[in-house]
Amino acid sequence: MTDVSLAVVILAAGEGTRMKSATAKVLHPLAGVPMIGHVLSTVAALHPAHTVAVVRHERDAVAGAIAELSDGVVIVDQDDVPGTGRAVELAIAALADFDGDVVVVSGDVPLLDAETLTDLIDEHRQRERSASVLSALVDDPSGYGRIVRDDAGEFRRIVEHKDAAEDELGISEINSGTYVFRAPALKAALAKVGTANSQGEKYLTDVIELLVTDSLEVEANPVYESWVVAGVNDRAQLSDAQARLNAMIVRGHQMNGVSIDDPATTWIDRGVSIEPDAHILPGTFLKGATSIACCATVGPDTTLRDCEIGENASVTRTDATLAVIEANATVGPFSYLRPGTVLGEGGKIGAFVETKNAQIGRGSKVPHLSYIGDTTVGENSNIGAGTITANYDGVAKHPTVIGSHVRTGSHNVFVAPVTIADGAYTAAGTVVRRNVPAGSLGMTVAQQRNVEGWVENNRPGTASAEAATHATKESE
Ligand code: UD1
Ligand code: CA
Repeated sequence: MTDVSLAVVILAAGEGTRMKSATAKVLHPLAGVPMIGHVLSTVAALHPAHTVAVVRHERDAVAGAIAELSDGVVIVDQDDVPGTGRAVELAIAALADFDGDVVVVSGDVPLLDAETLTDLIDEHRQRERSASVLSALVDDPSGYGRIVRDDAGEFRRIVEHKDAAEDELGISEINSGTYVFRAPALKAALAKVGTANSQGEKYLTDVIELLVTDSLEVEANPVYESWVVAGVNDRAQLSDAQARLNAMIVRGHQMNGVSIDDPATTWIDRGVSIEPDAHILPGTFLKGATSIACCATVGPDTTLRDCEIGENASVTRTDATLAVIEANATVGPFSYLRPGTVLGEGGKIGAFVETKNAQIGRGSKVPHLSYIGDTTVGENSNIGAGTITANYDGVAKHPTVIGSHVRTGSHNVFVAPVTIADGAYTAAGTVVRRNVPAGSLGMTVAQQRNVEGWVENNRPGTASAEAATHATKESE
């Protein structure tokens, strides 16, 4: 499978100043993956014999991320000589006597796909070129290097925007910064490239003119759609690329049988899996390694991070992290599920409920206004409205254990550690400080006392007193 005559160089040494960020540009995420991760997976699909990444700015962070995201990438440090030409020169020096084809890509072009690269490599090889440049025809070429052709349309050289003459600035075919070179020709040409230009850099683009002078074959091939090679230099271009990538991810799921009502407000990370016939409603964010089984409904206005949603489950207006929702269970609206929440088959976590490290068994329900933390609940139990598990005594966290077929009253506090055994009940308003044995009713409530005539005596002349007087007369 390995293409023994292919090497790839990824340029990632630049400063990315226009991002105005403390984080290296190539580490900003798109669809849950750092920018450089998208480039690394595209490159891996070519099965090159060698992959080299050139780093300098935020060197350790970038090199660390590359090592984490892929195997076998050689890291090369760029020295004090600036420019893409110097970066590639150092990269090929690390390839010793490799004499095949060298693909050069930028770490800040995350949407470039393997198919586009494969087409370029195939054509480069068939036509025995020494250099193939991926170009693009764009409405606004400003900032890019221009593809300069002669009257016959032959590719002659690349001129950087900052060095271009007035008539060259009008050229709308730009250099995408993606190339294939024959290694020996590239090496020889780079040795001749200087830094006499407006930026004082060693430009990779200068090799084209040198190859043409040596009568070697070069060509620039435009991509069909220029967004494929769009670079990310600032936050606006970052959000453009994120939107484009998200649109492709959403479309992929739709083609796979997932209903997604509003692609514009549905954001799906690359690591998410969704089975056919799931239904995703507007305003939904699916992050990390979230998985959604067949026929589940998620949304509207729901964020799931690394969650597992079972068949036919429904999750509405919910924020959840590292939660498992089993088949036919329902969550929401307005639920907040923190790590370690597991809701069993057919269970329910309802409105205004927060859970954390809570294993709620099959068929059990926490329907309203509760906090359930460090808790296990057995099967088919019902937790009353307004329940709090008081799991923290100011020093340590303690568990609450609730059995199966338990019915707890409204407005209970479970002062952990505490256990409610199978089939037990608790009364409304109970503060449960002691274990409740199986089948017992736990209650801490004092008898209710009514003070007759209190309102008429203490609040005379009020609407309440008048209503009371009226009601008393009626019943006489
Ligand atoms: C470069 C091209 C330009 C092209 C554009 C496409 C050159 C001289 N110009 O310009 O023709 O239209 O890309 O986006 O190549 N890098 C290094 N070391 C360096 C400088 C840059 O590794 O010393 C890396 C950057 O991190 C980046 C890539 O090379 O990934 C391109 O560098 P950048 O400064 O963005 O080049 P542009 O000015 O955009
Ligand atoms: Ca750039």
